[in-house]
Amino acid sequence: MNIRKTTLFPALCLTAALAMPALAADGKDLYTANCMKCHGANGEGKPSLAKMLKVEMRPLTSKEVKALSDADMAKVITAGKGKMKAVAAVSAAQAADVVVYVRTLKP
Ligand code: HEC
Repeated sequence: MNIRKTTLFPALCLTAALAMPALAADGKDLYTANCMKCHGANGEGKPSLAKMLKVEMRPLTSKEVKALSDADMAKVITAGKGKMKAVAAVSAAQAADVVVYVRTLKP
């Protein structure tokens, strides 16, 4: 039995388990500061804004948005999409944290 392998594996799992909620928490702060005003606390979207922009704002919990890859969702944040402008206050690295948080939203 390889002792090194058996002790390292649980240690790695623990690190991963501890890192995930931390990322989602950072993402939550970023989301609250930069996305909530348009997308709402749970990603439901603001009907008044959608009407004003004449666009359909899909809830961030919809299956269409869930189907976006992490990279595509991060790109919406850093490059914009359709009527949504790029969110300049969010860096590419932070966008990845926001994506982690958006995936935890419940309708
Ligand atoms: C000024 C308002 C505004 C802000 C701020 C904003 N969004 Fe958006 N977002 C929109 C609108 C409007 C759309 C729909 C764009 C379209 O379809 O033309 C959209 C679309 C999206 C989409 C694509 C949904 C789809 O149907 O493919 C994602 C993902 C998204 N936003 C995430 C975010 C995240 C995460 C943030 C914060 C970092 C954010 N948005 C900030 C207005 C905003």
